Amino acid sequence: MDKISTVKGFADHLPEEAAQFSFMGETAQKVFGQYGYREIHVPILEYTELFARGIGTETDVVQKEMFTFPDRKDRSLTMRPEATAGIMRSYIEHSIHAKESISKFFTYGPMFRYERPQKGRMRQFHQVNCECLGAEQPQVDAEIILMLMHYLNSLGIKDIGLELNTLGCKECRPAYRETLKAFLKKQKVEEFCEDCQRRMETNPLRVLDCKVPGCKALTQGAPEIADNVCPSCREHFATVKGLLDESGLQYRLNSRLVRGLDYYNRTTFEVVSGNIGAQTSVAGGGRYDGLVASLDGPDVPGVGFACGMERLAMVMPQPAVQTPDFYIAVLDENALNPALALAQNLRAAGLAGVCAFASGSMKSQLRSATRLSVRYCLILGGNELENGTVIIKNMENGEQKEVKRQGLRSLG
Ligand code: HAM
Repeated sequence: MDKISTVKGFADHLPEEAAQFSFMGETAQKVFGQYGYREIHVPILEYTELFARGIGTETDVVQKEMFTFPDRKDRSLTMRPEATAGIMRSYIEHSIHAKESISKFFTYGPMFRYERPQKGRMRQFHQVNCECLGAEQPQVDAEIILMLMHYLNSLGIKDIGLELNTLGCKECRPAYRETLKAFLKKQKVEEFCEDCQRRMETNPLRVLDCKVPGCKALTQGAPEIADNVCPSCREHFATVKGLLDESGLQYRLNSRLVRGLDYYNRTTFEVVSGNIGAQTSVAGGGRYDGLVASLDGPDVPGVGFACGMERLAMVMPQPAVQTPDFYIAVLDENALNPALALAQNLRAAGLAGVCAFASGSMKSQLRSATRLSVRYCLILGGNELENGTVIIKNMENGEQKEVKRQGLRSLG
């Protein structure tokens, strides 16, 4: 029989990567906590309708990337492709809007999209996600972008760029949509990719960020949305840009930054890196006023973002791991029981360490201790067993001393 492997597009996180993920989670709690964000957990499985209505039926995510299946009672369920829609459902379901005027949430965990796997693109991937509900001021957009950069900085990530755009609002976007559609129709329509030929009708803005080179060329010179938004969207965007300028944060205006989910309006942003293969976006987000209302909640504005944790792992340094304090090397099997007792005593005193349970020569055990970079190697040989003692070897300076095992609580 063939060996059982992971499902295509799903991956294990071995300890080194798992340590990076834990560090991302701890850093999220620390940094987002400084801005008043609180952790929330929502289910991985939701009714399909939530994503269809929240993300938009015409999006690639909903049309072709969801893991959707019927449950035993034939209700359509979907493994969440993102966290925002679920958080909105939870916000409405628990009437959180009635309890506080501004709600700030963060979460992290697995998301699922049936995409073609490649470097930096998985079918099960993970996001760190933040949402701020209840405030429509541009200062909130600026603050959340600054918070995202603060977070990425705290992870030790360098060499990234911030891209910024505005998508207008429900007042001004319809007119821009028509202007853009008219422009696209004047091009050689049959030369657009199949998706774009469809998008031209259903969601023409998406044509602007199609990655197919032919489509990119055909949209050269397209009317830019930032030039076509209403005065209030223009002012909103100007304030966001002004605040980022004041804070000294560099960004690039990208009029093609449309984002793949339909709920966005006004400010949108992405953080990009050149070091993650064909995928460049490590984080993305924006404002989504109207999303809560579209899910039958109150008309509450919102803004948020998500970082792809696999992509962060590719560009962040390995976090420092705490090295164990001790390693207990044993001469033979007779020393295993006393070794375990000694280890438990030391752990009860707050120290961290391991016993050499894998059999091997004293020399190979000492090599293991060196590999683990422990501060002390404790040696239990025949004499020590008999005398109730243990040898403590300081691995930094090589000094050794023999001490009583009973009541041993510190090694220095
Ligand atoms: P998104 O741009 O679809 O936005 O995803 C955010 C990030 O998730 C991307 O920038 C990328 O790093 C990562 N990502 C997406 N798909 C994959 C994949 N297949 N494999 C690996 N990483 C991936 C959202 O999901 C929005 N919900 C963000 C948001 C929150 N907007 C407002 N609030």
